[in-house]
Amino acid sequence: MASGRRDLAAATITLAVLLVLFLPITAAATVPSIDATRTRHLPLRHGLLRGPESVTFDAKGNGPYSGVSDGRVLKWNGHKLGWSTYTYNPDYSSEACTASLLRPDTATEGHCGRPLGLRFHLKSGYLYVADAYKGLMRVTPGGGEATVLVTEVDGVSLRFTNGVDIDQVTGEVYFTDSSRNYNRSQHEMVTRTGDSDGPCKLLRYWIKGSKAGTMELFADLPGYPDNVRPDKKGGYWVALHHEKDELPFGVDSHLLALRIDVDGKIIEEMRGSKSVRPTEVVERKGGRLFMGSVELTYVSVVTRK
Ligand SMILES: *[C@@H]1O[C@H](CO)[C@@H](O)[C@H](O)[C@H]1NC(C)=O
Repeated sequence: MASGRRDLAAATITLAVLLVLFLPITAAATVPSIDATRTRHLPLRHGLLRGPESVTFDAKGNGPYSGVSDGRVLKWNGHKLGWSTYTYNPDYSSEACTASLLRPDTATEGHCGRPLGLRFHLKSGYLYVADAYKGLMRVTPGGGEATVLVTEVDGVSLRFTNGVDIDQVTGEVYFTDSSRNYNRSQHEMVTRTGDSDGPCKLLRYWIKGSKAGTMELFADLPGYPDNVRPDKKGGYWVALHHEKDELPFGVDSHLLALRIDVDGKIIEEMRGSKSVRPTEVVERKGGRLFMGSVELTYVSVVTRK
């Protein structure tokens, strides 16, 4: 009896220690979670087409628009009509750029282009496209062939143009080049073959005000961030390409994206299958979240309950 009580006491102490050990982790994980294991798909439905990376909408709320693996930017016209071609770079042709089993997109993307970041300047209707190989491009309202605006900065060629954003008030366009040395296909190789040990940090660069020209740590994240989009409540949705401590086995669930507030604090998370690695998460009216991916053959839509 007495030994039984001792065991119980020991077990209680162990439990207490475990609780103490696990408490900080549990506490950190108790933000509201969106379950994205089942999503609605906007399927590309065209041969080997894949990878709708960025997801954006025009001033009227039409879309989404997304750049895909053959070099085009497509527009979604609803489930009945599906996707249509919206724009393409000056080197694009369907003969040279449509993928086949003998000619995968990886063999043509250097020539055919790979549109990644997309953003409309809402007032003018111009669409700006960050294409990994073509640089920064602009498309007149209504679509058609894009015009290449920037291929080098200060005499240095862009190697991997990746993201774009626009200050809708001033019309200033910001874009990123992800590498001075490597193009997109070389990067893909690195992230696919090895556990890339990049930083899980989100940095903030100040454009205006007393801190203008300086960079600071905005958020430490439990995964590798990709595109960042405002959540229209002062915070941001951050798509995660990979969790920091992701196990390749076990429960098929991982972090897809995080919502952070204006101070960089995590306030919401989205979880889903490990086969989904979102590149961008955009929130629209009615709690609908659109999710782009550089590998999948569809844009996903999750509706917040
Ligand atoms: C990427 O760069 C490497 C090295 O310069 C080159 O061999 C390769 O063809 C480039 N890939 C594409 C798709 O342009």
